[in-house]
Amino acid sequence: MVVSNSFKVKNICCIGAGYVGGPTMAVIAENCPEIKVNVIDISKDRITRWNHDDLTKLPVYEPGLNEIISKIRNKNLFFTFDIENSIREADLIFIAVNTPTKNEGFGSGFASDLTWVELCARQIAEFAEGHTIVVEKSTVPVKTARVIQTLLDSKNQRNVIKQNKTFSVLSSPEFLAEGSAINDLKNPDRILIGGDDQLGIDILKNIYKRWIPEDKILVTNLWSSELSKLVANAFLAQRISSINSISALCEVTGAKINEISKSIGSDRRIGDKFLKPGPGFGGSCFQKDILSLVYLCRYYGLNKVADYWEQIISLNNWQRSRVSKLIVEKLFNTVNLKKIVILGFSYKSNTNDTRESAAIYICKDLMANGAKLLIHDPKVNSAQIEKDLCKKESSNVDLDNNGCWTLIKDIQLSANKSDAIVILTEWDIYKKLNWISIASLMRKPSWIFDTRSVVDLEAIKNIDINYWGIGQGIDL
Ligand code: NAD
Ligand code: UGA
Repeated sequence: MVVSNSFKVKNICCIGAGYVGGPTMAVIAENCPEIKVNVIDISKDRITRWNHDDLTKLPVYEPGLNEIISKIRNKNLFFTFDIENSIREADLIFIAVNTPTKNEGFGSGFASDLTWVELCARQIAEFAEGHTIVVEKSTVPVKTARVIQTLLDSKNQRNVIKQNKTFSVLSSPEFLAEGSAINDLKNPDRILIGGDDQLGIDILKNIYKRWIPEDKILVTNLWSSELSKLVANAFLAQRISSINSISALCEVTGAKINEISKSIGSDRRIGDKFLKPGPGFGGSCFQKDILSLVYLCRYYGLNKVADYWEQIISLNNWQRSRVSKLIVEKLFNTVNLKKIVILGFSYKSNTNDTRESAAIYICKDLMANGAKLLIHDPKVNSAQIEKDLCKKESSNVDLDNNGCWTLIKDIQLSANKSDAIVILTEWDIYKKLNWISIASLMRKPSWIFDTRSVVDLEAIKNIDINYWGIGQGIDL
């Protein structure tokens, strides 16, 4: 099929209505009102929730997202079960499906599972009509675009009566961070387009150019684009593991990690971003993308390179377990039957996402040691926590056996007779807690374990409570 410069995008389809597909399509649809955008998903529950009248029930919580959804949903942005027609109508299709780490078979524990990407390619090959531009939004291993192109073309080759359908495959990885997704999508540092079909590249570029300055749109070859995404996440995670490793050194030497972050971050060559210590990075992507990079390096025989990047994960695992261990140690080496209030379960603030959250690992460790946990989070619900902790919620932790948990609403009330408060997510509300009244209700000696540096040390100076802060060396 001959595709000319006059090819105009009238319909976009996004396969995958998750943390990337939903917000990304909302911003595209808002900026391109004449384009119809269909977001499809194999999960009926996800689509139903995207269409919910009550916007607090949307499957993704992102500041600014509800406003866009209420403005354009069912005008030019649709969340639909109709996979077949959405693909058929589309001139441009984004693949934004999950690419988790494989947990069985070859490459288990490292390689990305491309089952869902392959399924998308087969669905597109089946239903698409005319010329279709297919864009990888999902994070994928290098050379995936070739697999997609092969799958798309194979349908044509098999047909006796050759169908009049053609495909151009591009890579345009997503760099949004959860919690700031809408702002990241509206004002990205850069947009990346990888490909070798100039016409397809121009068409995609013209969409982004509607709200993004052209000098921020970088064009590379397919493989640089695919690899850049993995490398960007690996570099970001590397900074966190680096600062977390130094937080431990601060604690034993009397140095203060926040002073270190400030002093090294003032050097413009280093920069001040991603230098906040914490309980270990979480989220669905850093670990999986580094593992994918490690797998790729080993596949090409670059074992030293693989070992280098794998260390970032190993340090992150150590940081999480270091936090659990020191909590137990400080509470006289046992947390059995002790009530501990956990503040924050999501992997960072401003998101309801708990994937790979450090809280999961730390809570499991504490429960394994017998603690009774009272978990608070402004956005995460008990069904999610139940799934993550693989344990049913207790209806009354006071009466229940050791190693149990419940979700709480009132932090102050729950602090009653508790031994410790552990801050695991940096939600704003935790910065404004009334420590005087909280401490007065706790069993003595009581502790605050602050893994996110949110507590104002001035505010607890004269209170009868012990404080441990990540990377806060005690002046000896
Ligand atoms: P997600 O799990 O939230 O959403 C993926 C959705 O795709 C799910 O709802 C799933 O049901 C659906 N799906 C899977 N196969 C399908 C198919 N064949 N047809 C229709 N729907 C299908 O995942 P996510 O967090 O949105 O991430 C998606 C991709 O984007 C991943 O590759 C991830 O690495 C990458 N990414 C994620 C983020 C992030 O912040 N979450 C940021 C940048 C890139
Ligand atoms: C990250 C990247 O920042 C995005 O650019 C990328 O698109 C995305 O992964 C992805 O590919 O999924 P995200 O995981 O949403 O985004 O959130 P981040 O802000 O990067 O935080 C990740 C983890 O690192 C969180 O647990 C956070 O608390 C932790 N973190 C972050 C720190 O411990 N210290 C910091 O200084 C920054």
